[in-house]
Amino acid sequence: MIIDVVTLFPSMFSGVVGESILKRAQEGGQVKINLVNLRDYAKGKHKKVDDTPYGGGPGMVIMAEPVFDAVETLRKDGREESFLVLLTPGGVRFDQTLAQELSKQKGLILLCGHYEGFDERVSQGLSPLEVSIGDYVLTGGEIPAMVLLDSVTRLVPGVLGSKESLLEESFTSGALEYPQYTRPQEVRGLKVPEVLVSGDHGKVAEWREEKAKERTEERRPDLAEKKKKSNRQFRQL
Ligand code: 6GU
Repeated sequence: MIIDVVTLFPSMFSGVVGESILKRAQEGGQVKINLVNLRDYAKGKHKKVDDTPYGGGPGMVIMAEPVFDAVETLRKDGREESFLVLLTPGGVRFDQTLAQELSKQKGLILLCGHYEGFDERVSQGLSPLEVSIGDYVLTGGEIPAMVLLDSVTRLVPGVLGSKESLLEESFTSGALEYPQYTRPQEVRGLKVPEVLVSGDHGKVAEWREEKAKERTEERRPDLAEKKKKSNRQFRQL
């Protein structure tokens, strides 16, 4: 999969794309990440990419023309079928299901807004899927684009090993993860639950399922309700 990121701040991405799974996925050839500096598509000697909003109000709006030009250049360069995503707090909420859908695409073009966002004609002219990562305010679309890059890349076939993929299944199931412990057995008076060192795999599995359920009901009642519903539907099949 080729992922193009159109941004005014490409250097924000260097740490994230150069480490861990994103690094491995690029080295393994499963994912290619291409950073596009929107400034390169600015016109005039001042390289202007934003301007004040029509009708007044605070902040700056990103001009449509440089975005059209950047996307057009990518389209001509083998990205005819890439799926276009615009990161904006006004978009649909990103979740694991959307990450799975996006991971099946041949390519993605991510448009990162900043300031007061893009001129609306970017949406009118290019019909991107507008995506938000949650109900809080961020300065720009770059951090959301990194969130999307990370979650989508780890779902691209061949990026994770088979062990890691199994873990994926358990999260997709809709419950929060059970608590984990590692050596030593006691830290500052805090002990590892006895069942985990008992060697009884059946009891361990039961304990983990119970803890995951407790956590989900306590911290994410919305998820717990959704899971109950889907379990009911599953039993009816
Ligand atoms: Cl995609 N952009 C910005 N600026 N803020 C956000 C967001 C996106 N998602 C949540 N907050």
